[in-house]
Amino acid sequence: MVKVLFVCLGNICRSPLAEGLFNHKIMLKGYDDQLSCDSCGTSDYHIGELPDERAMACAAKNGISMDHRGRQLNRMDFRDFDYIIAMDESNLANIKKASAQHKIPVKNLFLMRSFQEEPEFMEVPDPYYGLEDGFQQVFLILDDALEGLLGELKQKYNLFAK
Ligand code: 4NP
Repeated sequence: MVKVLFVCLGNICRSPLAEGLFNHKIMLKGYDDQLSCDSCGTSDYHIGELPDERAMACAAKNGISMDHRGRQLNRMDFRDFDYIIAMDESNLANIKKASAQHKIPVKNLFLMRSFQEEPEFMEVPDPYYGLEDGFQQVFLILDDALEGLLGELKQKYNLFAK
């Protein structure tokens, strides 16, 4: 099983949306026996919480359900996951810092938007302090980037749909 971890700051907006949408895609396309994913935050702000209600509404509107509970990145994640994917530069820097602190090298660490063919910017914008519409913008960015990620994983690990 190839395991992917999506990481943002609070683990209630961007990364649980990425997790929910990627789960939806791999199920729909028949890769759920070969790929799995989870999400977490670099902060401890929302441990145990369900995603932000605006993220839940956005997911529901797009046919995605989410039951993730917020959790913080921990040292085991560097062992357990094959890919670690950060939503923005600050998440990326914090993941590198945590890996150095725990003295466990981080493998396959990428920015989410590096999987888009033509990203307009390199960061998935933080919708937490923004307007409702920000969540749909994030969703569309994730949708595009996750297609790119799935394509890369299929090639790299020789995955075939069941
Ligand atoms: P996320 O958004 O990192 O996409 O989950 C945020 C959620 C909460 C906070 C910041 C960003 N916060 O400061 O509580």
